Amino acid sequence: MNLIGLPTHAAVEAAGLQAALATIVGPAHVLTGSDAAPRLVDHRGCYRGNGVAVVRPGSTAEVAEVVALCARHRVPIVPQGGNTGLCGGATPDSSGQAVVLVLSRLNRVRQVDAENDSITVEAGCVLADVQAAARDAGRLFPLSLGSEGSCTIGGNLATNAGGTQVLRYGNARALALGLEVVTPTGEIWDGLRGLRKDNTGYDLRDLYIGSEGTLGIITAATLRLFPLPAAEKTAFIAFPSAAAAVAFLAAARAGFGAALTGFELISGPVLDLVARHQPDSVLPYGAAERRAPWHALVEISGSDTDEHTTTRLEAVLAAAIDRDEIIHAVIAAHARQAQVLWALRHRLIGEALRREGGSVSHDISLPISRIAAFLADIEAALQRLLPGAVVYPYGHLGDGNLHYNVIPPANAPADARTRIQRLVYDAVVTEGGSFAAEHGIGQLKPSELARYKSPLELRLLRALKAALDPNGLMNPGKVLPAEA
Ligand code: FAD
Ligand code: LAC
Ligand code: ZN
Repeated sequence: MNLIGLPTHAAVEAAGLQAALATIVGPAHVLTGSDAAPRLVDHRGCYRGNGVAVVRPGSTAEVAEVVALCARHRVPIVPQGGNTGLCGGATPDSSGQAVVLVLSRLNRVRQVDAENDSITVEAGCVLADVQAAARDAGRLFPLSLGSEGSCTIGGNLATNAGGTQVLRYGNARALALGLEVVTPTGEIWDGLRGLRKDNTGYDLRDLYIGSEGTLGIITAATLRLFPLPAAEKTAFIAFPSAAAAVAFLAAARAGFGAALTGFELISGPVLDLVARHQPDSVLPYGAAERRAPWHALVEISGSDTDEHTTTRLEAVLAAAIDRDEIIHAVIAAHARQAQVLWALRHRLIGEALRREGGSVSHDISLPISRIAAFLADIEAALQRLLPGAVVYPYGHLGDGNLHYNVIPPANAPADARTRIQRLVYDAVVTEGGSFAAEHGIGQLKPSELARYKSPLELRLLRALKAALDPNGLMNPGKVLPAEA
């Protein structure tokens, strides 16, 4: 926070607001100056903003009081969880007018109902802690992302996060049974129901999920739990083509049904990038196999025994090798080896891309049946647009979700990034896909929403926003494009 440069009356108003916030949450939880700075920039340093204060309420009641105070003074609020979002949704604008409301102190597990296979947690609980609490109760909470050590369940629900188990368990929305929400006027909606069936009117829960803090503040959630798998087997597989990987996905679905819990596609160039930037990392196989154009990390987990799961996996892999669908495959011998493979997927790929730098990234989804052709067509189109561009695709093939990264050639024109994005998003939308698959819209993509949503859909979205947040105080500038 930086008040320098603000007119005096604004500084006085800010000081008054900070004092009023301190009476609600205590002075130690109203951060300004350098204490607030880390919360005014996203974790990658891509988005920077300014704010009156960063406030950390310690309970739902305190969240409600803070929001009511802000509503009375027409002060915008930016909710923030773990600040790991990739679209700038948790970063305020540069005006310095917003309060950043951080949920990290709402971190209690309120209840585990093992018999109902549900857990009720506060929004600031870190995802890994929710997974651990479920495990302690002999259950699985399956949401899993590379950021799980720092993202929060409130942020996961606000972005409807996906991750690496979606093909079996669904995304965050599918895992939520109920929510507690503080509305933009500071009222508390208690929708913490642990029900699988509840058709009592419009579904407020599903409206708040994925709304990226623009409709209200999620303060707690009741989540679905599942049986812990008896066995987990992880394989790393080299494919001769993307089409072969897609064909193997279908074979694995047919062979394993619900026991197919992960299918992550990784292109050869992405694997090379990891080897180049992190030469000490343990890679699944040698340089010859790594030359294959496509790879996948596949996970089978379920109620079957370890021995039987291994035998079935070996049989399915052998049949695919016979069909020339697979070049090479390794199965992790034990949990530690599987963790190394998952660390490659969850951590090393992102780190390698960050070190390489300069990539134009796209979080897109397509019907799985269109993925192989799309990958070939879009790469050819990119080469026509910018010869020498390098593509680094990977993603959640089981969900049709690609993280499609493009590095323009060194001599590319100044507007190359915009042209790449337009080419990719136009192609995705033409194929019936989405330009925002799992990371959301935030402040990165409202203009894409304006471009690709129909006027009717935009009008309906605006009507919802106006109905729930008539003063436009919840996370302004995020998700919805400014009216023309
Ligand atoms: P924040 O970044 O703090 O906020 C995200 C958005 O939610 C903002 O708009 C914010 O205003 C809003 N918000 C936060 N908390 C609340 C609340 N309690 N109530 C209302 N609104 C709120 N995402 C995926 O979907 N799949 C992945 O596989 C994935 N992998 C990732 C890997 C890495 C290494 C990183 C850094 C990020 C990854 N992400 C992934 C993106 C990110 O982690 C997710 O979007 C995550 O759900 C954000 O949670 P958060 O608590 O950090 O939210
Ligand atoms: C992943 C993030 C980028 O899947 O969504 O690694
Ligand atoms: Zn992802």
